[in-house]
Parts: sequence; structure tokens; C-alpha cells
Amino acid sequence: MFADANAYERFMGRWSRLVAPRLVDFTDVPDLGRLLDVGSGTGALAFTLAERKPRAHVRGIDPSKEYVEYAKSKNPFPDRVRFETGDAQQLRFADASFHASLSLLVFNFIPDPIKALREVRRVTKPGGRVSASVWDYADGMKMLRAFWDSAVHLHSKAEKLDERHMPLCRAGELSGLWRQGGLENVQEQPHVITMRFESFVDYWDAFLLGQGPAGVYVKSLSRDQVHALRGEVKSRVSPSAENLPIALSARVWSVRGTVPRRL
Ligand SMILES: C[S@@+](CC[C@H](N)C(=O)[O-])C[C@H]1O[C@@H](n2cnc3c(N)ncnc32)[C@H](O)[C@@H]1O
Repeated sequence: MFADANAYERFMGRWSRLVAPRLVDFTDVPDLGRLLDVGSGTGALAFTLAERKPRAHVRGIDPSKEYVEYAKSKNPFPDRVRFETGDAQQLRFADASFHASLSLLVFNFIPDPIKALREVRRVTKPGGRVSASVWDYADGMKMLRAFWDSAVHLHSKAEKLDERHMPLCRAGELSGLWRQGGLENVQEQPHVITMRFESFVDYWDAFLLGQGPAGVYVKSLSRDQVHALRGEVKSRVSPSAENLPIALSARVWSVRGTVPRRL
């Protein structure tokens, strides 16, 4: 699913850049030492960390070679930010290697999130923060809700594919995972951003790129079905015209916790 970095940027990566500063502020990371970006994708969080923490060194890991190469090619901080392939469920770093670890819009995609969280906790120093954000796919993420509500309205087969079923996307789920993973002082809160699209075309065309479950669903439809879905979505997000700007709110749930000083 995570192979075409340019298409990902067009579909969702551009919104990651708006969420990243919220997660960094919420995590309250130190401006020093080594910071880990878990599931660094095309680099939004790693670059935000480097911008806001000019004395810190950032390491981004992601299983997608294509995303890692893309992030390397766009890296404005080659002295302080490095990317490499890796899986959060099995990190190659020594215990207590990082002063803090953050993860943006990733944990819902990891097959065994508790295993990943324990690994992230292991490589983070005692007393260091571990944080993450996940889109509220079930409710507060209007861009995807308009899409899936339209798809389900037209075809009942879309119901089981609807991203509202994503794990860890509801209030209390991330903080539950963080407590289960042995983090202390766990706090969860929502962050809301505004996605501003130039027009309905700017909004809709990103769904035609085969990105994420929504893009994959569009690819499975006939031409007529895509046309009907487009009309239904448009009636929900931009009923009066195609060329007017659209603003849609999008919520993430963010969690932070502290690695215990004594395990
Ligand atoms: C929605 S993207 C988010 C990327 C980036 N953090 C951002 O905010 O734009 C999800 C990312 O999770 C990564 N991912 C999936 N499984 C993973 C795993 N087991 N460990 C680490 N990252 C993983 C994917 O390769 C992809 O880059």
C-alpha cells in the first residue's frame, strides 16, 4: 500500500505536515540528543522535529524503501536527520538510544501494535516521552468520512472496507494501548486541523491515485460507479460548485506517555 511516495504526498502527506507540529508540541520533546520518528513515511514529522528542535538529531525508520528514498531526497537537514528502512515491531537500535520517540499516523497500520510499542519503549531512555497520533477515521476526519459515507450509501459492499473500522482511531484506544505497553503518565487528547482544498477537483482527484483503502476501493469500481460516487461525494462536500475552495476539519487522537525509570 505504501509504495508511491509522490501519490502519498498528494493524497495525505500534505496533511501530515499540518498535524506534525501539534504532535511535537504535545509531546514536549527536549531540544537535544536523539529523537526517533517511527514510520517516518515521506518525512513530515522528522523535518518538523528538526525545524523546531535545532540541537536534536532525528532518525526516521519506515519499512517502505520508496518512502525512505523520497524522504532522503527531500531532506533539508542532512547533518541532523537520517532515514532508514525498518519495522517498528523489531528495531535494530540498542536499549535507551533515544531521548524521545514519536509516531505520526502509523500505529493503526502496524500488524502488532503492542509489540511495536514495547520496542519503541525499549529504545527510548527511561524518563523519555513516547507519543503518537492516529486519524479519527470513525468520526472527526471529514475528508474520509464524506468519501466512505457516500460509498456505503451507494454500495453496501463498501461497509466492511470503511476506514471507520480502523484500529486505535477512537477516543481512549491509543491511551489504552499506551497503558498496556507500560508507559506512565499517559495522556490523550484530540487535535483538529483544517484541510483546505483549492476546489472539489483538488479534493476528489487525490482519491483516483490508488492511495490507502479509499484509493484502492475506487480502483475496484467500474467507470460508471466511479462517476456515481463522485456525484454523491460532491453533493456532500461541495454541493453548489466544482471550483470553490473547500475547508474540512480533520481530527487526530494523540497520546503521550513516559518510559518508567524503573521497570
Ligand atoms: C499514513 S503513513 C504515515 C507516514 C508519515 N508518518 C506521515 O505522517 O506522513 C503510514 C506509514 O506507516 C508505515 N508503516 C507501516 N507498517 C509499519 C511498521 N510495521 N513499522 C513502521 N512503520 C510502518 C508505512 O510504511 C507508512 O509510511
